Amino acid sequence: MEIVICKTKEEASRKAADLVAALLKKKPDAVLGLATGSTPVEMYKALIADVAAGKVSFKSVKSWNLDEYYGLEPTHEQSYRHFMDANLFDHVDVDKANTHVLDGLAADWRKEVADYEAAIAAAGGIDLQVLGIGSDGHIAFNEPGSSLASRTRLVSLTPQTIADNARFFEKSEDVPRQALSMGVGSIMEARRVVLLAFGAGKAAAVKGAIEGGVSQFCTASALQMHPDCWFFCDEAAASRLELKDYYAWRAGEALGAEIGD
Ligand code: GLP
Repeated sequence: MEIVICKTKEEASRKAADLVAALLKKKPDAVLGLATGSTPVEMYKALIADVAAGKVSFKSVKSWNLDEYYGLEPTHEQSYRHFMDANLFDHVDVDKANTHVLDGLAADWRKEVADYEAAIAAAGGIDLQVLGIGSDGHIAFNEPGSSLASRTRLVSLTPQTIADNARFFEKSEDVPRQALSMGVGSIMEARRVVLLAFGAGKAAAVKGAIEGGVSQFCTASALQMHPDCWFFCDEAAASRLELKDYYAWRAGEALGAEIGD
């Protein structure tokens, strides 16, 4: 696990984008796993700027998103399909037919999740998975109590996650109670994982994920078992880490080797 700690979220997002861009240069037809939420927005902006500057292209990229609210149509303003179009896909040269988000309206959700996993496998698996982290340490919608071996499935959101996400909806009753979500086991199959965490509200989750025990109570802690996992944090999110100076120094060297800094 490498933990990159930057002064600001903009700086951390730029560095995370550099890692994604390095992959796209090496493998233009990379398979990306993408995340929603407020956290990755800055990183997507940095990638949009890279595409505009002709530094990278999404022309041959294929992507699969982590999750989708169950019961929301793709055109709903708070659907994750809408989020991805608005924050990334509409601004880069990706072929939208190659971008995949779980269908929140799927009548047969079991078939939907099985087809989704099969399509990822047929594409050769995910090269790089982008993640945010919930304030309770969840990744995708793998809430506390999710098996660390879980696969893509229908899940129920905790009251805390519903409250956290209520800011995006008119009222908290509008937040869907369920979602389709990749499982922890599915996420762990990505060849590289890039998790972003910003702000003091994520400090406890980051502490649990990195320095806590591996536990289904904090599903991000499963990433301790991943052979190529990168955390990009601002100082506030990293503030509770005991060994933060050591991590930052070590990650600086590792990142330099990856992005040629
Ligand atoms: C939701 C998403 C997660 C995301 C989390 C944090 O629960 N399913 O993928 O990481 O929200 O969101 P934010 O980045 O807005 O704090």
